[in-house]
Amino acid sequence: MRVIRAKDYNDMCRKAASILCAQVVLKPNSVLGLATGSTPLGVYRQLAEWNALEDVDFSETTTINLDEYVGLTPDDTQSYRYYMDNNFFRYVNILPENTYLPNGLAADKTEECARYDAIIRACNGIDMQLLGIGNNGHIGFNEPGTAFEKGTHCVSLTESTISANSRFFDSEADVPRFAYTMGIRAIVQARHIVVIVSGAGKAEILKDSFTGPVTPQVPASVLQLCSNVILVGDEAALSLLV
Ligand code: PGA
Repeated sequence: MRVIRAKDYNDMCRKAASILCAQVVLKPNSVLGLATGSTPLGVYRQLAEWNALEDVDFSETTTINLDEYVGLTPDDTQSYRYYMDNNFFRYVNILPENTYLPNGLAADKTEECARYDAIIRACNGIDMQLLGIGNNGHIGFNEPGTAFEKGTHCVSLTESTISANSRFFDSEADVPRFAYTMGIRAIVQARHIVVIVSGAGKAEILKDSFTGPVTPQVPASVLQLCSNVILVGDEAALSLLV
């Protein structure tokens, strides 16, 4: 694993964006695995800035997102489709038909999971996966206890995730209880994984993930088994990692 130390959130975002940018410059038709949440926002802003300057071209790039809430329409402001459209896709020259997220409104959950896994396979897997880590160690919505070998599946969100994500909703009661997530299997099979973490609040889980036992109880700990991980963290997040 490579650890790249950043001064602060903005520095972390620029460094992570430059790695993604290099990937797309080197391979314009890259398949990028993308994430939502607070942490990637500055990464997307930076990539949009470089795209506007024509330093990076996404016209041949495909994106496959990690997860989506069950039951939210794409134009619901809390859906991850809405997040991606409005924080990244609309600001860059990516083709909408090359951007994939699970369909939160799918009638049949089993079929939707199979459809998503088929998309990942048809794209020949993920060249570079951008990944945040949840307070409880989740990656995507693979909550503690998830078997590493699972493909895309529908999960019941834990109380800690519901509480952490309630900051984006009017109230905790509005947070969907179920979500689709890419499985850990597809994440670890990505050819490169760029983990981004910021803030003192993530220091403890980062330490557990990278120096504790590899266990489904800490899903991000599986990353210890991957040789292709680049961890980009700011000083506060990395403070407990020696
Ligand atoms: P955050 O979420 O970026 O909003 O902290 C990370 C995650 O839950 O994966």
